[in-house]
Amino acid sequence: MANSNLFQTDAAAEQAAERALDFAQRQVRNLTTDHPDYFPLFTEGGKWRHAKESWTNWCEGFLGGMIWVFARRTGDPFWRERAEHYSRLIEHRQHDRNVHDLGFLFWSTYKRWHDLTGDPTHDAVVIEAGRTMGLRFNPKGRYLRSFVAPESCFIDIMMNVGIIFHAANRTGDANLLRVATEHCLTTRRHLVRGDGSTAHEGLFDLETGAFLRQSTHQGWRDDSSWARGQAWALYGFGTAYRLSGDARFLDTAQRCADFYLDRTPPHGIPPNDWEEPNPTRPYESSAAAIAASGLFQLASLSQESTRAARYETAARTILGTLCTPEFLAVEMPGWEGILRHGSYHERKGLGVDESVMWGEYFFVEALDKLLGAAPAA
Ligand code: GLY
Repeated sequence: MANSNLFQTDAAAEQAAERALDFAQRQVRNLTTDHPDYFPLFTEGGKWRHAKESWTNWCEGFLGGMIWVFARRTGDPFWRERAEHYSRLIEHRQHDRNVHDLGFLFWSTYKRWHDLTGDPTHDAVVIEAGRTMGLRFNPKGRYLRSFVAPESCFIDIMMNVGIIFHAANRTGDANLLRVATEHCLTTRRHLVRGDGSTAHEGLFDLETGAFLRQSTHQGWRDDSSWARGQAWALYGFGTAYRLSGDARFLDTAQRCADFYLDRTPPHGIPPNDWEEPNPTRPYESSAAAIAASGLFQLASLSQESTRAARYETAARTILGTLCTPEFLAVEMPGWEGILRHGSYHERKGLGVDESVMWGEYFFVEALDKLLGAAPAA
């Protein structure tokens, strides 16, 4: 990915980011007004409400998370009330043992709430969610199991293991720290490849804990490179380093980021999978939004200034592209999402070339960082 930054100056970038955030607020306001208390995953023909299945329920923090960003940025009591409301709606999920996604749910909501108020009751929810995540640990294979099966570990879990590090740091619980560290080391060994690419899933022998093979659900092939998984890895390993100080995770995050940048066209938006020959859809915008936010974080963590500058420039380039009307749905009357050209699950035909809730959230988060916000530390 060469630099083709559409933002000519910092002022132009900031103006475009502000305009995109204004548009995001309008779309989210409409969604929450038209469909109160509804947690969509993806649009169908640009509409949030439809009858398609969800596959798994992992997105219920992203709406509240965006609203927390709006509330903090604007100080508007409307957004603050909505942020608290949409957070409370998912509070019970801190005990949910059926999904591997409690970081997605609670880092975006209760963590942001706690960051604003310092109220320990909000942090207690995040810590409890971290403890619940820790119960997914398979001691023989030394990984957190995915929602699909006990023998399965997903690269996506790297975005959720941070909540266990957080719980360990807050409570001093050495077992939680061990669980989180071992999961990262297992993922690093078996799901991250020598060239910095990642597998979506690793499968393990439940009797012995031995690693068996790499696999995929949403990528093109078991041995291919699913772009969203790559974005989860570069962001998640960066967070693991930020919360643990373990330099091995920074090294892995950087290798994953370098693969993303080396394989992506200058505009910064990857296809769903880099290995798929002549993909019918050239873009998976949610991977790009996640990568932009993760690259801002990595730029702040990387010790070498040229590397940090490369990541910062790449994040700004991605956002420059996502702010054009090809991606930002500003010129699409009736389209209810913010970002076009996201894809959820191509094989299942779910949310393909649509707006997807995590793409919206990480886009808003990355714009907020471009405008100076610190990571949700
Ligand atoms: N299952 C999470 C994702 O689609 O990235």
